[in-house]
Amino acid sequence: MAEYFKAATTDQIQPGTCIGVKVEGVFIGIYNVEGEYYAMNNICPHLGGVLTYGFLDKNCVTCPMHMWEFDVKTGECVWPGEESIPTYAVKVEGEDILVNVDEPLNKGETQ
Ligand code: FES
Repeated sequence: MAEYFKAATTDQIQPGTCIGVKVEGVFIGIYNVEGEYYAMNNICPHLGGVLTYGFLDKNCVTCPMHMWEFDVKTGECVWPGEESIPTYAVKVEGEDILVNVDEPLNKGETQ
């Protein structure tokens, strides 16, 4: 059975913003895209940039280091042929944002 861990509260992440948090030892970014929350590994597979320090435009985050762009809903790199990132299931209970980091929705190609 999937186990969800508290990662943040809804008041911490307004629409169009994101935060980086560690959940069970996994550094993830949580994104609020028009009221829906998404979780993705927070380390860029290129050279380790912290994605939540980048720029979020709708569901696309741009790495602050060399501008690779990722879809936070799928973990896919916008640039064809580049590496994808693991994403994680999110659910909201009351004001708590819960994330399952044990079973990524897609494993991505990052460590
Ligand atoms: S480290 Fe992210 S694009 Fe280079």
